[in-house]
Amino acid sequence: MWPFNQIDRLENAQPLDAVAAKIKPLVEKALVNRRVTDFLHGVWLGHPLHPVLVQVPVGAWTSAAILDSVPRARPAATLLIGVGIAGAIPAAATGVADWSQQDTQQQRTGLAHAMGNVTALGLYGASLLARSQARHGLGRALAYAGFAVAGASATVGGHLAYRQTAGPSHAVPHAEIAPPGWADLGPLVDLPDGEPVQRSIGDVPLFVLRRGSRVHVLVDRCSHASGPLHEGELSTEGGRECITCPWHGSTFRVDDGRVVHGPATAAQPALQVRTQDGRVGVRLPGLSMGNDD
Ligand code: FES
Repeated sequence: MWPFNQIDRLENAQPLDAVAAKIKPLVEKALVNRRVTDFLHGVWLGHPLHPVLVQVPVGAWTSAAILDSVPRARPAATLLIGVGIAGAIPAAATGVADWSQQDTQQQRTGLAHAMGNVTALGLYGASLLARSQARHGLGRALAYAGFAVAGASATVGGHLAYRQTAGPSHAVPHAEIAPPGWADLGPLVDLPDGEPVQRSIGDVPLFVLRRGSRVHVLVDRCSHASGPLHEGELSTEGGRECITCPWHGSTFRVDDGRVVHGPATAAQPALQVRTQDGRVGVRLPGLSMGNDD
């Protein structure tokens, strides 16, 4: 329904690029600490943290909108508006961290989403101020305006997450079309030792790393945004060999696909490997989307 069927126009709103260009250096400066950015992305959670934290302002403001319609419950509505404002700040921090690693079209939509949220935040702040000055009618009107803007902004955020796939694992769709059972990757000796290469089973591209007689195989498309892992850099983190995606620097353990650094939060599907008669066989044991060992 109008205007939401026009949301995709935001993806092509080039004027937003000038705003993004001004904000990006500030965001990059603020997000230099990798532990902090990993935390904000939700690496520790195995899931993007942003949609978890937005529950606080969304829930508090929705409840406040209901309670504002009941005269005796209005003090509680005021309290919930304050809770929503407090909860919006950490939610915004996670959103900014995710936004910093998105592509241009996603960043345009993300910027519109952020502008809507800032507007809603301003309206709720003004509502609290009006309530503190006993201008309760104005306070309620401002809160309802904030609720409407926050709802529209949430719709834009949903478009970013679901239509523009900012957040879902981009590796899982590849894993889902893998042929069932064991597939042949060819002779072990044909794999270069210590150098990542790309192979495939069916239409599924694979990251393959041989270390002597051991072979590690992951889905090659990075779970963050489909970057080619076989073009990444090998490193060691916590005594385990890792591959860093060439696009935005997500780092995965090569033996099990676990995320070591974001922005990815979903583990890279790791394939089972066997060597029989000098030939390497692989199969997907099932989809692993979290960070469980
Ligand atoms: S595609 Fe973004 S980190 Fe790999």
